[in-house]
Amino acid sequence: MLKTTAHSMARTAVAAGLAALLMTGAATHAATAATATADDGLPNVTILATGGTIAGTGATSTTTVGYTAAKVGVDKLIEAVPELKKVANVKGEQVFQIASENMTNEHWLKLAKRVNELLAQKDVDGIVITHGTDTIEETAYFLNLTVKSTKPVVIVGAMRPSTAISADGPVNLYNAVTLAGSKDAVGKGVLVSLNDQINAGRDVTKTNTSTADTFRTPELGFLGYMQDNKAHFYRQVVRKHTAEAEFDISNLDSLPQVDIVYGYANNNRTALDALVKAGAKGIIHAGVGDGSLSNAMKPGLVDARKQGVVIVRSSRVGNGIVARNGEANDDELDFVASDTLNPQKARILLMLALTRTTDTKAIQKMFYTY
Ligand code: SIN
Repeated sequence: MLKTTAHSMARTAVAAGLAALLMTGAATHAATAATATADDGLPNVTILATGGTIAGTGATSTTTVGYTAAKVGVDKLIEAVPELKKVANVKGEQVFQIASENMTNEHWLKLAKRVNELLAQKDVDGIVITHGTDTIEETAYFLNLTVKSTKPVVIVGAMRPSTAISADGPVNLYNAVTLAGSKDAVGKGVLVSLNDQINAGRDVTKTNTSTADTFRTPELGFLGYMQDNKAHFYRQVVRKHTAEAEFDISNLDSLPQVDIVYGYANNNRTALDALVKAGAKGIIHAGVGDGSLSNAMKPGLVDARKQGVVIVRSSRVGNGIVARNGEANDDELDFVASDTLNPQKARILLMLALTRTTDTKAIQKMFYTY
């Protein structure tokens, strides 16, 4: 049965009006223009562009490897999806233009501050961030802990550059804007949407180097689907986030140095010692199994802790709980267990935790809260 709602009729009418406007050449520049009147019933969504493959270009339409990320500006990304005007009044801003392997703490602070500024405005209903997929999960978790609003924030990317046959960027962007303008997305924390799926910023991870269905929340599952111009939610995250989180980056220009050391057979403490010498305030140990520590690594971590460095035991496995006092006696060692956070997300929580305290009991509580 065909479902027709007042909202969709209004959207259709707005779209028809917009089409007429476009035909008379009266449409304004996509990057700066809200494309319909403020009382049109459509949500106001700002797209903050940061680069990545969604803004990438290749030499030919069949180039999907060896293209250049972060080339196309936000106005062109918006122009490529005229359907956006049917679902939101869209404005665009180029916050920076980078491949996401070059993301830094300073980029995150800049982005979080801009998101908070915008969401504090009454005339902004939601934010979409276009982003490279390589570190999307880290940015999503950082914002999940630092955005001070319940309004939707959706991070989106693409696995194929904008010049590719069947580029996934346009449909992903369309879905992300629809999601950011959806009342159903309010209060759900920072979301990541690609490939018609909605994932929670806390739990999503990239699972495949190159396929379009790379983003997964293994075992715990994604939150819902984007289908037929609508968000369909089936579950939500119970860990605290956004407006409920205790972290305040508004006056910060930098974050404490936290680094990751990797567990593997025959490993040693050389890299760990170098990181501590270089000023690390926290170390995430991406241990084997349930965060196990080798006989070669453990004394290095103990020494680091004696120097005041906070040690978090995480796991390279990718699923499951790293149990406190399981594979190591955390009480005795004064270490913290990462719960289910993977090493790259544990790094983010520890950085933010260290902006508030160095008390390991308080930090452990944060790992069970966020
Ligand atoms: C990047 O992360 O910037 C490049 C890869 C991608 O966006 O898929």
